[in-house]
Amino acid sequence: MRLVVYNQKGGVGKTSVSLNLALTLGLEFVTTDLLSHVEIALPVTKIDPQVPIEILPDSKDVVYDLGGALDDRIKPVLEAAHFILIPTSADPLDVDITLSTIKSVEQHNKNILIAIVNTEKDEYETARATFAKLCAYPTFEISRSKAVRELLNRGKSLRERAGEVTGAARQNVERVADQFDDIISHMQGKFSQQFKNLLSNIHNR
Ligand SMILES: Nc1ncnc2c1ncn2[C@@H]1O[C@H](COP(=O)(O)OP(=O)(O)OP(=O)(O)O)[C@@H](O)[C@H]1O
Ligand SMILES: [Mg+2]
Repeated sequence: MRLVVYNQKGGVGKTSVSLNLALTLGLEFVTTDLLSHVEIALPVTKIDPQVPIEILPDSKDVVYDLGGALDDRIKPVLEAAHFILIPTSADPLDVDITLSTIKSVEQHNKNILIAIVNTEKDEYETARATFAKLCAYPTFEISRSKAVRELLNRGKSLRERAGEVTGAARQNVERVADQFDDIISHMQGKFSQQFKNLLSNIHNR
């Protein structure tokens, strides 16, 4: 499965979301972000500017943590993706840029999921309502959590981390781990459906 985490906007949680998904699902991690320190937590393939981004075969499970302009390097990866997860903060300016990212991305691939991250209180509901007015892609919440900020240094998925902490901290980490599980379940449901469709096409020939 090729999962692309992408937004033209910087600082919206792309690396954090990619990292927890990779640690949870054992995905290979590929990025064009030469400045990230993800290699502290897991093995990373960093792709130099100007070098094409290799599209790994279907048999590999990979997350591509990609940012910047939707250029000729990014387009083929979007087209080959099983899912494109677009993270954003709930900040109206970020939501605005994310909407234009979605408009560009959907010309290449409509298997889009939106993750509104780093949210507090009713921020998720407000941002979700804005997206719902303008597009119909599934939308997920990843709440604000210290455990997300600590992902890199701990090198453990949020689910693993939840098993280590106690009390109120545990509740907080479990909540965010559950939110990631919602995203994962959605993808697994869709992905197996794609395979079911594929099989029935073959049988019906
Ligand atoms: N759910 C969350 N809870 C707390 N902090 C978060 C959460 N999600 C992201 N952050 C913090 O927000 C900041 C930006 O996140 P991140 O680096 O993942 O974004 P990015 O889109 O990859 O940025 P860049 O464009 O620089 O690559 C980081 O400091 C990260 O720890
Ligand atoms: Mg990043």
